[in-house]
Amino acid sequence: MELRDSVVIVTGASSGIGEYTARRLADEGAKLVLAARNADKLEKLAAELPESVAIATDMMDSSAIERMVAQTIDEFGRVDVLMNNAGQGMRCPVADIKLEDIRYLLELNVVAQVAAMQQVIPHMRRQGGGMILNISSMLSTMNMPKLAGYACTKHALNNISRSARQELAADNIRVCLFLPRITGTDFGMNTRGSDQYDSRKGAPGMSVDPVEDVADAIVAQIRSEEEEVRRSY
Ligand SMILES: NC(=O)c1ccc[n+]([C@@H]2O[C@H](COP(=O)([O-])OP(=O)(O)OC[C@H]3O[C@@H](n4cnc5c(N)ncnc54)[C@H](OP(=O)(O)O)[C@@H]3O)[C@@H](O)[C@H]2O)c1
Repeated sequence: MELRDSVVIVTGASSGIGEYTARRLADEGAKLVLAARNADKLEKLAAELPESVAIATDMMDSSAIERMVAQTIDEFGRVDVLMNNAGQGMRCPVADIKLEDIRYLLELNVVAQVAAMQQVIPHMRRQGGGMILNISSMLSTMNMPKLAGYACTKHALNNISRSARQELAADNIRVCLFLPRITGTDFGMNTRGSDQYDSRKGAPGMSVDPVEDVADAIVAQIRSEEEEVRRSY
């Protein structure tokens, strides 16, 4: 994929992996749609990055996702890449998971990703192709105490992505997965459930990936169109 002048929607662009990847994509000359709930942070970032627009979007609201993609087309006329990155974690034993928390996480980490995919697919078909990059997690490949509520949402996202990859290949739409390991962002502090943690400090036996390295790896994946990239432990 030629990054210069390509139109990329980054969800969850107000912080962490989304923000740093948006910065790197801007360095490469991409046109950016920056989406998340925090409009102030998005506006500040958009003011720094040339050819970018901030579109405040709550991914829990499917009509807001529809508006985000419609505004992208109004602004830039096309969408080359959807980076489906907005998400949240949860650390809690299964016995104690609040049903409202797991419903929320399934909606944000799975249903909203599908909604965003469904909004961009018709435009990508019309254009003759595009790329959907779903940000999963290495935890989706593991079974660990307290992490099932989160890992199952990313496991579902993997499955959806791999099926959609086959369904959309004939339309020249590549559906790709990036699986980060622990990355130095505020992600751990933003988790739901009983047990927040500091993802900047890592966990026993697991080192922390600098967010800048993760952003570089995602940009390289967009350029190479590699189907799946894992930051293995
Ligand atoms: N950091 C890690 O260790 C790690 C490891 C594996 C996978 N991941 C995955 O990487 C992705 C990015 O995480 P991160 O580390 O960058 O965490 P982060 O710093 O907490 O960023 C999460 C982003 O998602 C956005 N978001 C949350 N709820 C939203 C909603 N309802 N609507 C729209 N945007 C929403 C947040 O923006 P607003 O609050 O402004 O809405 C923020 O920009 C997530 O999908 C996460 O599961 C992270």
